[in-house]
Amino acid sequence: MIEHDVLIIGGGLSGSRAALAVAQNYPHLSVGLISKVHPIRSHSVAAQGGIAASLGNVDNDDWLTHAFDTVKGSDYLADQNAVQVLTKSAPEVIIDLEHLGVLFSRADNGKISQRAFGGHTYNRACYAADKTGHAILHELVMNLKRLGGTIYQEWYVMQLIYEDGEVKGVVAYSLETSEIEVFRAKAVLMATGGYGRVFNTTSNDFASTGDGLCLTVNLGLPLQDMEFVQFHPTGLYPVGVLISEAVRGEGAYLVNDLGDRFMANYPISKNRMELSPRDITSRNIACEIMEGRGINGGNYVHLDVRHLGKEKILSRIPFAREEGLRLAGVDCIDHPLPVRPTAHYSMGGIPTNVDCQVIGKDSKEITGFFAAGECACVSVHGANRLGANSLLECVVFGKRAGEKLGAYVRDRTMPKLDPSPYIAEAAAKLKGVLSNKGNTRISVIRQQLQDTMTEHCGIFRDEARLTEGLEKLQAIRDRYDHDLLIDDHGAVFNMEMMQAIELKSLITVGEIIMSSARSRRESRGAHSREDFAKRDDANYLKHTLGYLEDDQVQTSHRPVDMSLQNVDSDRFTPQERKY
Ligand code: FUM
Repeated sequence: MIEHDVLIIGGGLSGSRAALAVAQNYPHLSVGLISKVHPIRSHSVAAQGGIAASLGNVDNDDWLTHAFDTVKGSDYLADQNAVQVLTKSAPEVIIDLEHLGVLFSRADNGKISQRAFGGHTYNRACYAADKTGHAILHELVMNLKRLGGTIYQEWYVMQLIYEDGEVKGVVAYSLETSEIEVFRAKAVLMATGGYGRVFNTTSNDFASTGDGLCLTVNLGLPLQDMEFVQFHPTGLYPVGVLISEAVRGEGAYLVNDLGDRFMANYPISKNRMELSPRDITSRNIACEIMEGRGINGGNYVHLDVRHLGKEKILSRIPFAREEGLRLAGVDCIDHPLPVRPTAHYSMGGIPTNVDCQVIGKDSKEITGFFAAGECACVSVHGANRLGANSLLECVVFGKRAGEKLGAYVRDRTMPKLDPSPYIAEAAAKLKGVLSNKGNTRISVIRQQLQDTMTEHCGIFRDEARLTEGLEKLQAIRDRYDHDLLIDDHGAVFNMEMMQAIELKSLITVGEIIMSSARSRRESRGAHSREDFAKRDDANYLKHTLGYLEDDQVQTSHRPVDMSLQNVDSDRFTPQERKY
């Protein structure tokens, strides 16, 4: 059995920032970080456009305006106490990143430059060209290594160990050797990121399979606000990879087949145009496509940057240009890029308080269990996240989690734990996966899942489609359980085995998303119900909690409780969202 005072699952921005905070502030503690990929291949490395903070280097900005923009962008579902922590800490965490070595792009006066992003009143996104996640993650991981944090890379966590109401560690296996280990810890932080691969068009990498969410919900713990899926307006067509909002921040136009900048034709976006919040922009693009004004009547519109000129394109958004060239064969210096909305981000996740402690169904903290970053729902984004607030969330709450964890484990003894039954159970599980001799390959079931989620729980939703979608998901789960085919029986880097386990996570997460979407009979932020087109504060200014009643129960409708969680809306009173 391997032991650490603090164990962190996930090597992206929040996991690395948390591990680093432990190493910086509590050098006598041992911190272990488990990641199924090399940490700097975590999906945070793909974050592009920026990280929001009211530094005020370009405009006269302040944290309260940032807080208001965030709450309004969230369609008033964000918890305002958490938004206050996020926005008030933002300037300080940026300076802190700079001191760690992050090379931000500079303004002419030498200060960190800031650009416009949708839904933000001021130029607020600090950036490193359009490779901001890359610039930050490299420095965090380098600094963590420098300070002696232990990294277990290419280890896959199969189970959280939860006994007597207490999280005591995890069971993981090495992808390199298939060796199974129990990791015991005084506290565990979940920082596994999102689940974009549940949809068929996504900006997320292959590893974004909702593992941490599934591990948590399998303990009988709830997931919060899972109906809120962010579709980023500009995924490159047809592959879905991100063309950063920074491109619109630098002045790009969205244009339909008639050559119109169509954002002007929708009352809600005619003022902010291309810099409207993402939920609004994605819906408008989807409408243009549905109404036949996609380019040549097809499934995409144009993102035009030609008027910015070559020099600006090459200095501010070089990665967007490279992606267009490499993945669509389009050079945006001379031609518009084909784009359409792509599944990008999860507003929901594992419910936590502002100290990143996980909260159970009875609103009590779970002993020894923390979560941060995209897999968590401290609820700073509510029903719709503003661009550049996600890197910020990872860094603010990752750092905060590390600091809290260090203090938390100081008074805790190592929990008592017998590893043998866990090792035996995990070995049986891996053997069970390998013994699947059905007829259907992983890729076929995954495609069915992704098509079902996209068709039945995409940008626009209604009761009938969601109900039918849940029935299809039940059939997909049955097919997985009874007809899966695994060819590779090797012990070394058996990616097929890992993908089979990941697929189970995706199915479970898909069921919770779809059930939560069915239960929310209103439209708010990214959740657009065609049958309940209005926001309904009287009944739904609430967080949803979706959970598995019993992981043996195979019903297609997962229980979702609409009543338990009130929203903290003390500072800004909910009002109609107009831009
Ligand atoms: O468009 C982007 O660069 C993405 C940023 C974000 O999701 O915050």
